Amino acid sequence: MQDLMAQTPPMGWNSWNTFMEDLDEKTLREVAISLKEQGFLEAGYNYFCLDDGWEDKNRHVGQGVDYDKKKFPSGMKAFGDFLHDLGFKFGIYSCAGTLTCCNYPASYGYEYEDAARFAEWGVDLVKYDNCHVPDDANGMFLYRRMGQALRETGRPILYSMCNWGFDASETWARSTGAHIYRIGLDSRDTWENFETVLNSIGKVNLTAYSGASCFADPDFLIAGMNGEGAVSNLGEEIGPNAGYNVYKMQFSLWCMICAPLIMSHDPRKTTSDTKNILLNKELLEVSQDPASIPAYLCKIDKQEETHRSKNTVWAKPLHNGDIVVGLFNRNDRPTIITAAFNSLGWLMSDTVEACDLWEHKSIGVSRGYINAEVPARDCAVFRLRRKK
Ligand code: GAL
Repeated sequence: MQDLMAQTPPMGWNSWNTFMEDLDEKTLREVAISLKEQGFLEAGYNYFCLDDGWEDKNRHVGQGVDYDKKKFPSGMKAFGDFLHDLGFKFGIYSCAGTLTCCNYPASYGYEYEDAARFAEWGVDLVKYDNCHVPDDANGMFLYRRMGQALRETGRPILYSMCNWGFDASETWARSTGAHIYRIGLDSRDTWENFETVLNSIGKVNLTAYSGASCFADPDFLIAGMNGEGAVSNLGEEIGPNAGYNVYKMQFSLWCMICAPLIMSHDPRKTTSDTKNILLNKELLEVSQDPASIPAYLCKIDKQEETHRSKNTVWAKPLHNGDIVVGLFNRNDRPTIITAAFNSLGWLMSDTVEACDLWEHKSIGVSRGYINAEVPARDCAVFRLRRKK
């Protein structure tokens, strides 16, 4: 059962960026209803995930970790039932160390009893963090241990490994049974943070280490945060919020590289701009393409591209022979970016029909290459089909 999960990138919502540890059942129920009412559930965002802060401060050994009764007065099982009744899957959080990152009890040494408890509550996803891991512990072994504990529950539980890409985790994530694994630090709502996250993406060989049933995770979508939310711009990277074009860039790239699509804004504050991005049907289809081939970086003008280039061209082959090409401009000025067909597996003499996935229209026929003037810190994404 387990290995049939995550054949395409998982989608959902997580509480962290908006609420941090300040969770309460009443608000979370509103959030879930709002996600459903606004069409996010129907669009595929079906994992509703609690992050850190749901736990009781005391652990009763032998019973598994408990929930905070003040924050969740109806109990975790009832909360899970409520989510299931709405049509969501239920995600929860724990950590491989002795405490979670916010200092609540974590699963180190209690993996089997905690996993059993999660299964009792009807949990469908466990995110497993990496704080307070004892110095002499082997991180890889701890992630394997929780993966094993989850499988032994007999319940299909999606395993979301969050060790921030430490210890070259892309090379062993699959051995733990993880269905998704973080490859870098947290996403925040600023341009500077987005650039940092892009650099972590560039360090992982996605085409070698990400695919069906085990996807690389560059962290949450920030679209719709609009400078709000508890961790919107927490920490060193404080600055103006990233804004519409950057949200659009992040969403496009995440759909192309098969990243999990886990939203993090407050759905009750969703604007029509936010919906334009997160509910872009054509891009969601790209994300959920059954071939699950992550986009690769292309060459531009005979030069090898690197993830640090200011202009990058990403290409994602789809199962039906179409290719999605994304032109990403990291410059602070408009730039013409070109993708040549020979770098995609086609010939320079080939002609293709192109659809603009943000303008939602056909842009006609191109031969040999496709190019566009891309505004500063923005992107253009085309779906191409070769004419035969
Ligand atoms: C971090 C993790 C975040 C969030 C937080 C909770 O380590 O990267 O996504 O889960 O801990 O304390």
